[in-house]
Amino acid sequence: MNDHRTFSFEFPARIEFGAGVVARLGQFVRSLDSDRVLIVTDPGLVEAGIVERITSVLDGAGIDHLVFQDIESEPDARSVHAAVDLYRSEKCSSIVAVGGGSALDAGKAVSVMATNPGHIRDYAGLGLVRKAGVPFIAVPTTAGTGSEGTIWAVISEKDRADKYGVGSSYLVPRLAVCDPDLTLTLPQRVTALTGIDAMSHAMESYINKATQPISEALSEQSMRLVARSLRKAVFAGDTVAARSDMLLASTMAAMAFNSTRLGIAHALAMPLGAQAKIPHADVIAVLMPPVLRFNMVANLEKFARIAEIFGASTTGLPLRLAAERGIEAVEQLIGDVAPPAKLSDWGVKEAHLPAYAEAGMQTGNIPVNPRTPRAEDLVAIMRDCL
Ligand SMILES: [Fe+2]
Repeated sequence: MNDHRTFSFEFPARIEFGAGVVARLGQFVRSLDSDRVLIVTDPGLVEAGIVERITSVLDGAGIDHLVFQDIESEPDARSVHAAVDLYRSEKCSSIVAVGGGSALDAGKAVSVMATNPGHIRDYAGLGLVRKAGVPFIAVPTTAGTGSEGTIWAVISEKDRADKYGVGSSYLVPRLAVCDPDLTLTLPQRVTALTGIDAMSHAMESYINKATQPISEALSEQSMRLVARSLRKAVFAGDTVAARSDMLLASTMAAMAFNSTRLGIAHALAMPLGAQAKIPHADVIAVLMPPVLRFNMVANLEKFARIAEIFGASTTGLPLRLAAERGIEAVEQLIGDVAPPAKLSDWGVKEAHLPAYAEAGMQTGNIPVNPRTPRAEDLVAIMRDCL
């Protein structure tokens, strides 16, 4: 809890949520005064037929569109700038990003680079983007990153082994179209890993030093939805109610961490993504249990509340044991849905850890982490996962 009760909360986006809501996309694009759309997406979504669902809605509404489908997992600055060139040369007037966090983050970056000079890396950090971007709609097709509800885009430069966050209220989409029907066919593994990422957003925000009443309420509800529906979304993926819960959980968690940032798991996800090339959600699933164990002693009350939210019985238990129950419940959930993995599966070795720890210590997620870590603590957390 933020003891001083002074806080700031900003959320400038409109959200249209519900099964089937994507059918109104044409109307939403028109409300942004646009009649020519650049769709930013990845090849997997074209193959899965999701992009065709989007283009047929736009066709039905008489809206011109073209598709840029070269966004890779962990989007690269090169693709962002290629899409900006296409947006300009084709005289588009809005962007609709369709996909998981990679496509949405890329879409955000394209939107602001269409109006701001230079390279996207010039704006790495918080609050450096100077001008609003072009009209931008986010259509998430996974329930995890919550990119549709955040000020952040994470961009990679693979040839420089670099990865950075660009944060600005100009990156919040003008509209997020959250339709759980689009997530019904996600494979189990993707559902599990993205769902754990969403949970980690709610949780790292909830326990950190910057948490505040509004973000806490969003985090608590997000965790309740995950507790109720992640297993079902993974193992009975055609259950619309479970998919809907997970998409809502992801969006609400994002709204929470927008104002608070996150913690150690997300600090380490930057170097482990950029240098060890581990996909974001995989890093998070591996790191969350030891990160929670490290943080528990700094905020036993919060972990006891997490135990209740995740359905663990804490009646009559001393606070510390109740807090441990919270961690056990979260570990059990992760163990149930995600295939077990280790950092060494991606080639990480003991010798790499100090450099990753140093890089993690430089991120903005460290100062808000509930327990102040030293670089050697981060090394120990990663060593636990080798
Ligand atoms: Fe994340």
